[in-house]
Amino acid sequence: MDKNTATLRIAELTTELNGHNHDYYILSNPKISDFDFDQLLKELEGLETEHPDLASDNSPTKRVGGAITKDFPTIKHKYPMLSLGNTYSKEEIIDFETRVKKQLAGEIEYTVELKYDGVAISLSYEKGELMRAVTRGNGVEGDDVTVNARTIKVIPLQLKGDYPAKFEIRGEVLMKHSTFEQINEERRAAEEEVYANPRNVASGTLKMQDSSIVAKRDLDCYLYAIMGDDLNIATNYKNIVQAAKWGFKVSDPKKKFIIKCSTVDEIMEFIDYWDTERKKLPFDIDGIVIKVNSHQQQLVLGNTTKSPRWAISYKFKAEKVSTKLLDVVYQVGRTGAITPVANLQSVFLAGTTVKRASLHNADQIALLDIRINDTVFVEKGGEIIPKIVDVDVSARDMFSVPFVYATNCPDCGTELTRSGDEANHYCPNEFSCQAQILGKMEHYISRKAMDIDGLGGETLELLFKEGLISDVSHLYSLEKEQLLPLERMAEKSVDNLLKGLEASKDKPFDRLLFGLGIRFVGATVAKKLARYFTNIDNLMNASFEDLIGVDEIGDRIAESLVNYFDTPDNLDRIEFLKQKGLTFAVSEEDASKRTNLLEGKSIVVSGVFSKMSRDDIKTLIEDNGGKNTSSVSKNTSFVVAGENMGPSKLAKAEKLGIELFSEDDFLKLVSKDV
Ligand code: IVH
Repeated sequence: MDKNTATLRIAELTTELNGHNHDYYILSNPKISDFDFDQLLKELEGLETEHPDLASDNSPTKRVGGAITKDFPTIKHKYPMLSLGNTYSKEEIIDFETRVKKQLAGEIEYTVELKYDGVAISLSYEKGELMRAVTRGNGVEGDDVTVNARTIKVIPLQLKGDYPAKFEIRGEVLMKHSTFEQINEERRAAEEEVYANPRNVASGTLKMQDSSIVAKRDLDCYLYAIMGDDLNIATNYKNIVQAAKWGFKVSDPKKKFIIKCSTVDEIMEFIDYWDTERKKLPFDIDGIVIKVNSHQQQLVLGNTTKSPRWAISYKFKAEKVSTKLLDVVYQVGRTGAITPVANLQSVFLAGTTVKRASLHNADQIALLDIRINDTVFVEKGGEIIPKIVDVDVSARDMFSVPFVYATNCPDCGTELTRSGDEANHYCPNEFSCQAQILGKMEHYISRKAMDIDGLGGETLELLFKEGLISDVSHLYSLEKEQLLPLERMAEKSVDNLLKGLEASKDKPFDRLLFGLGIRFVGATVAKKLARYFTNIDNLMNASFEDLIGVDEIGDRIAESLVNYFDTPDNLDRIEFLKQKGLTFAVSEEDASKRTNLLEGKSIVVSGVFSKMSRDDIKTLIEDNGGKNTSSVSKNTSFVVAGENMGPSKLAKAEKLGIELFSEDDFLKLVSKDV
């Protein structure tokens, strides 16, 4: 296509895609299918590849991320990002209202809206285009996170309608509960510590180096204030209505996220409403914000150095109730990790009846000196399971004694172990502790592993109790005649179960590898290993050094794999499953992506790249048989150097005379057209 036609078509596609994006993410009312959207996006990608000079930084193709940022530049805010004074009671709100009234003549109108619990962001727009996104930082200066902000689908890259030529808009980036839970589920499966609350993850995500990961994390963003030099700002409320027209996501009056009002009673009514309704929201709010609506009046009131005098927040109390600790029981995980759980006298907390609470580990119990029969305080934090946050020592029984943590496995009686750097106790009886055996099988059939149709946790437990299975490999020897006599196993369920097991033989290699339940091998690591080694034999023959040569495989995972494949029982299981026809290799199509082009080469990737993300380049190196290393040494074969490569790496490479490849050189080398 010639350049003029391409320019027109790119503009057309950009407007169209931005419109669909707005319909989908902000109005929740898509007008075309995902497939059709992808077709348009692909067309745009194609044109931009053909004419790289026509590709704008704000193209809808930038939504998927890819650029890597090593250090985020610090930017001074044009208008400081202030914070808000907090209040916790009606009296304090009355005080605020009295202060405001004293300063102003005439009617005063307020807006009251949700206080989103995320991280503050300031977006600058010029001629309708997103120019920059900066975090709050210390209020005076923050980090330039524009590349990451571009991947947040609700942040418009190009505005519509009648917007001012130049302005800033402020808001809050947050993560929905569903996304947060999903990330934690993945971390749990990989035996990584779970994140405490969505706010922390939102904040961490915004500052991630790889924008393609940010894109996948589905951050949300509500905007609440506009600022600029020559704006025609009448009221805060009108501002928000305007901003919505330009394409921003703002507090929706229809959902009662924002109201206009003029009395403390109305403010209190709003607070009471959201104090209960907030539990139904798909994201966290930590309070509500009360603002004087008129911009003119805001100017009269002015700011202190820290916060405006025309606005204040009301913070909800974290819900906390007291109840009695009846007992502490221990759960034994599939890897033998022991988790203490508190049994509580039932109590109503944040919309649900609570009977159990997480106690984390022995240290946590000792730290709070939690004892059986104590009156304890339970709070719902960021996580679903409530936790014990304090003990009412004054209510303690005079005969109470300090809690003694279990020394032996509650399931098999084996003495528990605990190594110095671990928070949890472990049951070391890996092969005969019933809880661990059942836990491992439950993991194998779980949704993210083999996800076997017709086989759920209850049936699995039944088969185990009946002595039919004590290892996942036994599943594949089950016969119809053995199953029919069992309780709740009618002909149809037996057929479904056997069919499900048969179908599981075709589940991809990485799912099987994850299902084996090797310590520290979560779903993501399993994918990585499957792609790199392509089949189980290569993986089994890999040495510790081979393993740590794979990007993101550290000592801990490598050691665990070596141990796993050194254990005869595990080798027997694999051999048996192989004979039964399970999939122990990646598909030919995936395997064909691999070459030996870079075999024996140690390669360092450094800097920011424009065509691919750093992770993609590392993946290409692995796919072509090379090894990624993080630091430059005399053993480095070459460095793939992007923009702003780390200065110490560059100096070292120059000193050692190690060749530098540009992104294009490298892509040519692996004959990859991008
Ligand atoms: S207005 C001058 N409105 O709360 C500050 N802030 O404690 C004006 N926040 O850093 C802020 N939701 O990130 C305002 N609807 C809302 C808000 C909100 C959340 C955050 C904001 C600010 C912090 C102040």
